[in-house]
Amino acid sequence: MTWWKDTVIYEIYPESFYDANGDGVGDLAGIREKLPELVELGVETLWLCPIFSSPMKDGGYDVGDYCGIREELGTLEEFDALVAALKRNQMRLILDIPINHTSDQHNWFQHSKASSDNLYRDFYIWRAGKGESPPNNWISSKVGGSCWAQTEETEDYYLHLYSDWQPDLNWENPAVREAMAKVLQFWIDRGVDGFRLDVINKIGKEPGLPDANIDPETGLPEYPEPYFQNHPLSHGYIQELRSRLKGDEIFLIGQTQGVSEAEAYAYAAPIRNELDSFLQFEATDFQKSKGESQEAFVEGWKAKLFRWQMIDERVDAMIFFGSHDLSRTVSHFGEDERYRRESSKALALLLLSLRGIPVIYMGEEIGMTNARYRDFSKYQDIRTRLAYQRRVIEGGEPEEKVLREIWETSRDNARYPIHWNAGPNAGFSRIKPRLSPASNYRQVNFEIEGEDPNSVFSFYKKMIRIRRLEDALRRGGFRAAESVPGVICFEREWQGRRLVTQVNLTDAEKVCEWIEGSACRIATHALQGEASVLSAFEGRILMI
Ligand code: NOJ
Ligand code: CA
Repeated sequence: MTWWKDTVIYEIYPESFYDANGDGVGDLAGIREKLPELVELGVETLWLCPIFSSPMKDGGYDVGDYCGIREELGTLEEFDALVAALKRNQMRLILDIPINHTSDQHNWFQHSKASSDNLYRDFYIWRAGKGESPPNNWISSKVGGSCWAQTEETEDYYLHLYSDWQPDLNWENPAVREAMAKVLQFWIDRGVDGFRLDVINKIGKEPGLPDANIDPETGLPEYPEPYFQNHPLSHGYIQELRSRLKGDEIFLIGQTQGVSEAEAYAYAAPIRNELDSFLQFEATDFQKSKGESQEAFVEGWKAKLFRWQMIDERVDAMIFFGSHDLSRTVSHFGEDERYRRESSKALALLLLSLRGIPVIYMGEEIGMTNARYRDFSKYQDIRTRLAYQRRVIEGGEPEEKVLREIWETSRDNARYPIHWNAGPNAGFSRIKPRLSPASNYRQVNFEIEGEDPNSVFSFYKKMIRIRRLEDALRRGGFRAAESVPGVICFEREWQGRRLVTQVNLTDAEKVCEWIEGSACRIATHALQGEASVLSAFEGRILMI
């Protein structure tokens, strides 16, 4: 049995986890210092968002040197000390690594752009423009504007699917493929157990880079994703990468936005020797529509979740509700004021009883909420700032309206510092951090949560333990069960042991049958009154 089939992962955005040296930025030493808290929680694998040298224009997803640690986070020695501490606790480490693109400050790109005939020219994708226009009509669906930028040195354009300071690597070039395998090997040799390969399903691009179709209604080009998202070429590149890696049981997770079930199988079925698991976003990355009731929202979510729960049993999907790119879980799927604790627990029960390899995003285990800064200038996320520029400054939309949307969608919701206690800077740092804590830090923090047996943290702890004890939750099959709207019910079964999850994700009482002859394995609330009624955000697992 490969180790990841049994693990619970905890994702850390290092800048915002804990600042050990008091410069206002979270660091590797901070992670090591807080390891006892994570050991107590029971998570077994850490996933660190990019820790490499970077100009930090996109949260570290713009790498300047793949084999160096970002100065603010620490040194390679610090990294080794963290690995050693993890090993002492039988924990594993996964690094998040963006290898579709680098920063424009990377040495490779600095060489590449200098002339049209240097050794690194073909590390990136260069084309001549068409007259005054870029080589094709691709528009970035992520940051807006053309996917091409011109440089003075040669007048050619380079391709960038993200910002213009994130040039795409040219995976067609065998030297790029070899260089990247070496980078991963460097980290494997330093004790890393796996990687989360950022936008790995975009490394293969349609040869010839054809123009995107024009939308007949708007007259504008459609988004160019069909030419590079899940392109058949990506599979070959990933297989080659995998075959070059030396090490025992190296866990490769692909960030594969927009995958279909068939594509997910192609990436992650063991027989393919590609990835071991994949992240799909369909079941997580969507917003409640205007005026939609919580009940209707839950029904929509349930349909998506269940569809992905039923994928081929030979494939291990990742299961997660939050991440460094998404809203806070309780704000997104639960109710983060009156029922903050209850709904956080209900979501923990759901996450940790579904099929898949679970990822807890830092702060979720204490029920942290969206930041909702009242002042736009507090937001730092590049996408939020670009949206402000485009919509408010250039587009003239009312600031208040855009701000309200940003409250729910900004990536800073996930990236503001962890609340450790009710003290200055929420106990995160001795000085004021770049991103402010949320205004609720006095009520929502680790210190309060850690001590209280009824807290969200205590519930996560219990639930992780139960997942460890119950093979049915880790390996069992999945079967959807009937339920009234707003309630999610399903069964997991392994070698005759059946566990039934029942969760009410609304703030109203809901009828939900107590299965005759069953016993309660774990519940978010103490059993009161009618066993066939779930109160607001109540959840339980019954065993049969
Ligand atoms: C996906 C990452 O999760 C996101 O944070 C980043 O901005 C893009 N990839 C580009 O690397
Ligand atoms: Ca620091």
